[in-house]
Amino acid sequence: MPVTVVVGAQWGDEGKAKVIDLLAADHTYVVRYQGGHNAGHTVVVDDQKYALQLVPSGVLYPHVTPVIGNGVVVDLPTLFREVDTLQGRGIDCSKLRVSSQAHLIFPWHQAIDALHEASRGDERIGTTLKGIGPAYADKARRDGIRAGETADAVAFAAEVRRQGEVHNREITALGGDSLDVDEIVEQFTGLAARVAPLVVDTVELLHGALDRQESILLEGAQATFLDLDHGTYPYVTSSNPTAGGACVGSGIGPRYLDRIVGITKAYCTRVGGGPFPTEALDEWGDKLVEIGHEFGTVTGRRRRTGWLDLVMLRKAVRINSLTEIALTKLDVLDTFPEVLACTEYDADGRPVYVRLPGWQSDISAARTVDDLAPNAQALVDLVQREVGVPVTIVGTGPARDAVVNWS
Ligand code: GDP
Ligand code: IMO
Ligand code: MG
Repeated sequence: MPVTVVVGAQWGDEGKAKVIDLLAADHTYVVRYQGGHNAGHTVVVDDQKYALQLVPSGVLYPHVTPVIGNGVVVDLPTLFREVDTLQGRGIDCSKLRVSSQAHLIFPWHQAIDALHEASRGDERIGTTLKGIGPAYADKARRDGIRAGETADAVAFAAEVRRQGEVHNREITALGGDSLDVDEIVEQFTGLAARVAPLVVDTVELLHGALDRQESILLEGAQATFLDLDHGTYPYVTSSNPTAGGACVGSGIGPRYLDRIVGITKAYCTRVGGGPFPTEALDEWGDKLVEIGHEFGTVTGRRRRTGWLDLVMLRKAVRINSLTEIALTKLDVLDTFPEVLACTEYDADGRPVYVRLPGWQSDISAARTVDDLAPNAQALVDLVQREVGVPVTIVGTGPARDAVVNWS
């Protein structure tokens, strides 16, 4: 039965949410499998823009059950702020379910994230300061609190208090101010009561769906080169966004995976520190920021910009077993006289570029391959040729319907 995975093939913000929203039309479940509210997923429908951090991007369809899988780290204040905002805009979130095995983020994780970043000085990672790394670290050292623990309010409150006191010692040792544990216990007791009815064994839920031949879409956050194992360590996030992580973070075995869609922009961006071989530190980089609105959804930070790196994309195909690619934001290059794409690195590790003539026309209304300017088609053909898997979707604008189905 079809399970589709959507995974970022660069350093994030490739337009995953738009593609997920598009594909969710044909799926019954949309499941976040890793990361947390460090993600910023934007969906645009009929001039309405939705910026999602934790709620799966399929939520806009009434037929979809959105699921927060076991691999996610959940910040309850953010989750309910997001749910309330969506409900206020007429989006029904009542089908949302949260894995009992998902770990919770607490204010001490955010405090420790900030202290670690400050201690790294110039070597700082540029995290989103959402407490993601410290929450996964607690999970790995078997000291985390899971969503399932909210079922027993008394035991949950006691554990939050104990953890708060332990982490306060860590915070003060790192030079920070200790947190008000009483206040946190009170806040999270209320949040626990609200989340408890949504908490289920999502592995059972999803396998029941598979038994009934229902389709599942696994929603990646972050991206291949932010992966803890396969990314540009230490400038990475603390989870596994790659396709293998989709199995671990949802409890669905690899043999169920049918389509694995890698999302890449027609150029490249990265937010935060770390290597970026094709970074354009010139007027073209500035133009990509300006035309592509390259500012973070979550932190508002200016994204670093550069040219498409096909060497990295080839690696993303291998690591994720990509069956296809969605190439987004092609329209951002409309006014460029020339478009560069890196096909190899030289002996010193510097990118070697193919230079294609630009199309210098507005492709935002294109809906078929033939509507696209020939020079724009040539870039898509280059990508397919260089990476060896088909491009099936081309993005020509932010809206749900702004796509060309390539095949
Ligand atoms: P995600 O984190 O991968 O889901 O991506 P983000 O939502 O953080 O960033 C992608 C941005 O590009 C959002 O503002 C989208 O609305 C926008 N977007 C997505 N696809 C396209 C496209 O094909 N063309 C243009 N111009 N914008 C797009
Ligand atoms: P979406 O899902 C882009 C980056 C941060 C930082 C590094 C580690 O919207 O594509 P973290 O807070 O996770 O410990 O930060 O990862 N980062 C992202 N960059 N898009 C994201 O998510 C990101 N989530 C984290 O900027 O460099
Ligand atoms: Mg994003």
